[in-house]
Amino acid sequence: MLNPKASLATNDFRSDTFTTPTPSMLAAMMNASFGDDVYQEDHITTEFQREIARLTGMEDALFMLSGTMGNQIGVRVHLNQPPHSVLCDYRAHVYAEEGSGLAVLSQAMVTPVHPANGIYLTLDDVKKWTILGEDIHTAPTKVISLEVTIGGILTPIDEIRRISEFARAHDIKVHCDGARLWNASAATGYSLADYCQYFDTVSMCVSKGLGAPIGGVLASTESNIKRARWLRKQLGGGIRQAGVLTAPALVALKEVWPSMKETHEMTKKLEKDLAALGVVPQIPVDTNFFFIDAKKSNVDMGILLEQCEKFNVKLMDERIALHHQISDEAIESLKAAIAAAVQITKTLPSDYVSKVPSGGYNITSKMNEYS
Ligand SMILES: Cc1ncc(COP(=O)(O)O)c(C=O)c1O
Repeated sequence: MLNPKASLATNDFRSDTFTTPTPSMLAAMMNASFGDDVYQEDHITTEFQREIARLTGMEDALFMLSGTMGNQIGVRVHLNQPPHSVLCDYRAHVYAEEGSGLAVLSQAMVTPVHPANGIYLTLDDVKKWTILGEDIHTAPTKVISLEVTIGGILTPIDEIRRISEFARAHDIKVHCDGARLWNASAATGYSLADYCQYFDTVSMCVSKGLGAPIGGVLASTESNIKRARWLRKQLGGGIRQAGVLTAPALVALKEVWPSMKETHEMTKKLEKDLAALGVVPQIPVDTNFFFIDAKKSNVDMGILLEQCEKFNVKLMDERIALHHQISDEAIESLKAAIAAAVQITKTLPSDYVSKVPSGGYNITSKMNEYS
């Protein structure tokens, strides 16, 4: 039996997408059902979708090729005829990182909101920026999209409930970019269904913290999923022998998801160890991400990336992402790289120009720039 930890990803902190399929995922792919899912004849895919519907408490679910596809289709099922707009956090993936999909696929305006608390959206933010009424100058808010977790941060479930109640009272749909809803659930103990009751559509990724090789899933009502299946086909996402993708996703649910709490504990421990080096995060470390505040930590990002190469760990910016294949040895190497970078930064002349200015993935600096 191969060692499930024997992965190319043991030292890869760039994102929780940088994992490799485990031996049991590969075995599941070999033994998958090979029915045609465009005709809904692939029983492993059907089983996977039923399992997601059960876990989320939603009526139905549909496998998606990516988180982007799940988000774009998830929002679009709620939108028919412009003018209409989508309200979301200004950092939200669905708005900022999906190639203008909301404009192109949903013909939607976006209201990107800067959370007043600098951390997560609250009902006050939402109330302030929601466009209601029939003023013909406007594009009324038809969808509120919440990313849970966002930058690894947990939005309190009560805040989600309040936003959802407000939305429902105004006939606004609520979408969840739950690429990492698995992490939220693992961190808080609330079930997926506890969260999902507040949303009309929920898109979740299986290829991030869950560690499956490809895809995501959209959960919603039967009628929304029927329409989503149509829209997915239109985008070229009707998959024939989908079982090779959903079989490892089922394994990920059973084998990787239960270990997510450990990954979060590892991240907390890292936060504590980095604090001892004077290295602090930009935003709360609630789950599996630590965003280095390079400025406050007096660490030059260019030097840090050089040290990471030297210590054989992979990092691409301020975000340190942990996942189930990160090894203890890699954590030690990362800490050594950071400690070395802190020391070297101290010796730099005051006019030193960094090779990699910080801000590559600097959540709060974006916020300071624009708010
Ligand atoms: C919060 C969030 N949503 C959606 C996505 C999109 O996922 P994919 O890369 O599978 O399209 C990502 C990807 O990093 C993400 O971080």
